[in-house]
Amino acid sequence: LSAARDRFILPQGTVYLDGNSLGPLPAAVGPAVSDVVTRQWGQDLITSWNLNGWWHAPGRIGDRIGRLIGAAAGQVMCGESTSVQLFQALTAACRMRPGRSVLLTDGANFPTDQYIADAVARLFGLTVRRVHPSEVGERLNSEVAVVSFSVVDYRTGELFDSAAITELVHESGSLMIWDLAHAAGALEVALDDIGADLAVGCGYKYLNGGPGAPAYVYLASRHIADADLPITGWHGHAEPFELHQHYRPADSIERARIGTAPLLSMLALEAGLTAFDGISVAAIRRKSLALTDLVIDFADNYLTPWAEVVTPREEHRRGSQVSLRVQHAYEVCQALIARGVVGDFRAPDLLRLGFGPLYLSHTEVLSAMLAVHDVLAEQAWRDPAFSVRAAVT
Ligand SMILES: Cc1ncc(COP(=O)(O)O)c(C=O)c1O
Repeated sequence: LSAARDRFILPQGTVYLDGNSLGPLPAAVGPAVSDVVTRQWGQDLITSWNLNGWWHAPGRIGDRIGRLIGAAAGQVMCGESTSVQLFQALTAACRMRPGRSVLLTDGANFPTDQYIADAVARLFGLTVRRVHPSEVGERLNSEVAVVSFSVVDYRTGELFDSAAITELVHESGSLMIWDLAHAAGALEVALDDIGADLAVGCGYKYLNGGPGAPAYVYLASRHIADADLPITGWHGHAEPFELHQHYRPADSIERARIGTAPLLSMLALEAGLTAFDGISVAAIRRKSLALTDLVIDFADNYLTPWAEVVTPREEHRRGSQVSLRVQHAYEVCQALIARGVVGDFRAPDLLRLGFGPLYLSHTEVLSAMLAVHDVLAEQAWRDPAFSVRAAVT
């Protein structure tokens, strides 16, 4: 995949290990956004809705994302934030399972996933139970309406068996919602094949769509007709330009639209996705595993006793990140950034290193690990400058 590196613009001297938080800038984005601003908006003005394909952008980009997550066309809609899409998906799923009283989520799930599960449960009078995905079988029964998990644990990088879990969930007649935030673009997700019901994900991590890039929602085609989505904006109407007084959802995935899309961000995401052109997700996954194998080996051999690998070692249980438990993880992370190695910190004690296989080389990753070694061995993190906490940690 070394040729794919040219599809990105990265600062000289930086090894970027935070593409699982904000993907780097794909080279195609600048020219595309410039065209959207100067020609499409500046010259073509409102005719761009037809002339430049603005109206169909959410579905068109949804289909493009669908190709990366194993979803056939017509089931993915791009737009909004992951949090809004979670609200949409959870609400629609709860409405499809009336009479059931429990919503299951993972107590280690990303905060927004848990907060929105709690909020939706409050609307429907459901009880939220928290269970680790590997133990879901013990909590499933005919009371469970919906199960909502992430495919990859954002902190530890643990990858869950989405096929087996979805199958178990279906055996109890419940619906399964997957959050693909830390999986899409980094590893194979086969939504159609595993029989997923609904899914959401964000555009700004491994999809490299840019800060605040729109998210997406997947509704399996068998559920679209029954998906009673709560936010009934006019773009999801069956006949939006008839301007009816009352809402009637589109028959297709178009019902997952809400209001006017943020075209500048959305078209930046579309351009960013071209970095995947002609590259299979299987090849991306192979390189991701090679890089994370290298990091785990290095940590085992050279970072003990300072750092402990918390990411599962088995390949089938590992996403595209390696999380190291280290004392003073915040300060260590800052000291690394000062040396050009950009990872991130997750409270209270994790140094999280994410690997974007499209733009990282093995040599760079090795040099980053040597920097981790040096910062720990030299205790460079002790410099008081590295303990100053900014608003975003
Ligand atoms: C699993 C998961 N879901 C959701 C989000 C973020 O949601 P939003 O895009 O609404 O900020 C994140 C952010 O890191 C995440 O890791």
